[in-house]
Amino acid sequence: MKLRDNFLWGGATAANQYEGAYLEDGKGLTINDVEMGAEHGKAREIHQTIQADRYYPSHEAVDFYHRYQEDIALFAEMGFKSLRISLSWARIFPNGDDLEPNEKGLDFYDRVFDELLKYGIEPVVTLHHFELPLQLVNKYGAWRNRKLVDLAVRYAQTVMERYKDKVKYWITFNEINALFISKQPWHMAGILYQEGENKVNTMLQAAHHQLVASALTVIEGKKINPDFQFGCMLLYPCTYAATCHPKDQIKAREKLLATYYFGDIHIHGRYTNTCLSYIESLNGHIEFELGDEAILAQGTVDYLSFSYYFSAIEGVSEEIEMAEGNLSSGGRNPFLETTEWGWQIDPIGLRNSLNQLYDRYQIPLFIVENGIGALDKVQKNGTIEDDYRIQYLAQHIKALKDAVEVDQVDLLGYTVWGPIDIVSAGTGEMRKRYGFIYVDKDDEGNGTLNRSKKKSFEWFKKVIATNGESVDLEEVQV
Ligand code: BG6
Repeated sequence: MKLRDNFLWGGATAANQYEGAYLEDGKGLTINDVEMGAEHGKAREIHQTIQADRYYPSHEAVDFYHRYQEDIALFAEMGFKSLRISLSWARIFPNGDDLEPNEKGLDFYDRVFDELLKYGIEPVVTLHHFELPLQLVNKYGAWRNRKLVDLAVRYAQTVMERYKDKVKYWITFNEINALFISKQPWHMAGILYQEGENKVNTMLQAAHHQLVASALTVIEGKKINPDFQFGCMLLYPCTYAATCHPKDQIKAREKLLATYYFGDIHIHGRYTNTCLSYIESLNGHIEFELGDEAILAQGTVDYLSFSYYFSAIEGVSEEIEMAEGNLSSGGRNPFLETTEWGWQIDPIGLRNSLNQLYDRYQIPLFIVENGIGALDKVQKNGTIEDDYRIQYLAQHIKALKDAVEVDQVDLLGYTVWGPIDIVSAGTGEMRKRYGFIYVDKDDEGNGTLNRSKKKSFEWFKKVIATNGESVDLEEVQV
């Protein structure tokens, strides 16, 4: 089996890391707009209001809001077949609970979609990418509150109705399982745990609300346009047992339960034994409303999308050294090298992940995030020789091709994270760059925002033009 002829090569971004224009044309504040940048390894500072004289990376980000035409022209030049963007809920409903949408916000995304379609680039749209109108935190306690389900569905219906002839591929919640994995629920659910709060029950209940909102979005979306394709989106924490000791195998399996929890509900449409045993292991409790079970059963997704950056190991030994990671982390694997941010590079882990997910769910998969965050050096002549990026991506493309061609996994596409340099979600840094396109901006917010092509730009263009046949594998041994 070959890669599909219409394989969705492209890139993936998120509104709060890319758009900027944080208060323009009626947009309301989001949970990201009160989050400062952080040094590597430190947590981002969050206050529930904006502090004077502090720098907030999302406010300008890299200004896609005003430069979308230039950026999309560059993506088109690389031959992109798809671009994953997220919508900012607060651009459409500034407070989250407004009765009428903000026309200027809707108009912005109309222009973006028109520009993409002009070049034949398929938009892939995430409705919730670690973003929420700040007002929903202050007024309702964010996803703790059932009220968010109705508000999220109103937002989803509004945009699905508006863009029904422009967008086919939808993703409901980005890395929804990160709510359980990261234990930092601000990004995923707008939650800062309060003193004395039962964290487990808050987390389980917030997840339930998101899962119900996701299912209702699918149900309502199919009424608006039966051709819509909906995906769930999981952070896939590929995990190996530290040794062949059976107890290490159990540990490795347990690591994946928080992920399968969400996959099962989105795809099987119910709380499976995996979910129930997970809840019980935490001694947790979820309040269901009448009808929730039917909603989950009906609102199942068409495809499973996921992010993959690294793998890790798990075992019972207390000696296992911890590796770095984003929202997920795990043990250090002596067979793997790491990125400058300490993430373990494991292309074969991508093939393993594709197989594990396809074996379990048997629905089309879509890799919607993969890439390497690196320190790029601009040479005196202005070029950026990012061979390490080419090497990383080439190895991962080889691995996904093995999964499709040898293992016969059904794969819709591959969108590289941050095809243009954008703000890091984890730290707010700019110097951690993923792009094929360099953006002149530093961690303090200085720079012209000018765009320039890195060496990987031409390389990826060739990969797409040959539908993955040419990835210069002789230079990159897996
Ligand atoms: C994923 C997120 O977890 O990882 C993205 O969906 C994020 O929003 C990406 O940017 C890479 O993480 P970071 O911290 O390097 O930006």
